[in-house]
Amino acid sequence: MDKTLYQFSVELIQQSRYLIAITGAGISTESGIPAFRGTNGLWSRFDPEVYASRSGFLSNPQKAWELFLHLYESLVDARANAGHIALAKMEKRGKLQCTITQNIDGLHQKAGQENVIELHGSLRNLICTVCSQTFNIKGLLLDSQDLPPVCNCGGVLKPDAVLFEESIPAESYFAALKHIRMSDVVLLIGTSGLVHPVNELPEMAVNHGASLIEINIEPTVLTAVCKTVFLKGRAADILDRFNCDLF
Ligand code: APR
Repeated sequence: MDKTLYQFSVELIQQSRYLIAITGAGISTESGIPAFRGTNGLWSRFDPEVYASRSGFLSNPQKAWELFLHLYESLVDARANAGHIALAKMEKRGKLQCTITQNIDGLHQKAGQENVIELHGSLRNLICTVCSQTFNIKGLLLDSQDLPPVCNCGGVLKPDAVLFEESIPAESYFAALKHIRMSDVVLLIGTSGLVHPVNELPEMAVNHGASLIEINIEPTVLTAVCKTVFLKGRAADILDRFNCDLF
């Protein structure tokens, strides 16, 4: 990682008035949760059109539940890593105002963060595709022989996460826009920047005059578009270092 850029990033964060973070799957890979794209990514094993789209789910919920069960099993032992913990410390110290995440793993909250906007929902509840009743996953036993789970109204249950072809909950999206407009420094962490509409948020922040510090193991489509301060490396390492140098 470029030491000068790193030091410049520390100063940007120290002087920031309204620091926010936008996170993607890359912040959770060090908790054992695979990313979606790249080598060994989830989408190289599960076709997202079949397993993670609204139409795929409705035409074959049993197949979609093979992916959902795989996600739940990867979450059982997943713990927040040093990257999540570093963001939670920044929030506790009043430096980080909000984290806008695409992740559905709940690890930001597990690390102790409270100001988290889950734009793609989460795995913590199931929702009925007929009556919209929700069920906390904690109370349910997901048996691979008995999938998909069914609501007492007869409707099929799905995780309360946003599938492809579904829209982001308007309330969450407008809350994210509010923080984007107020931000002067944005930490862009572990996202390929390929999925709409979240991938528009970094450029919106830049257009409002914010500086973007991008933490990723490789450059992304956003690196050039948003002229980010690109810090090459693992999110857990860099965020943990930030915490040591900031406080
Ligand atoms: N540290 C930092 N970055 C990492 C690390 C790491 N340890 N490991 C992987 N990355 C980076 C990858 O280089 C990649 O740029 O994280 C990014 C992960 O990209 P994706 O797998 O595309 O995940 P994400 O950007 O969150 O996907 C957005 O797409 O499939 C949908 O709904 C799904 O929320 C997801 C959305």
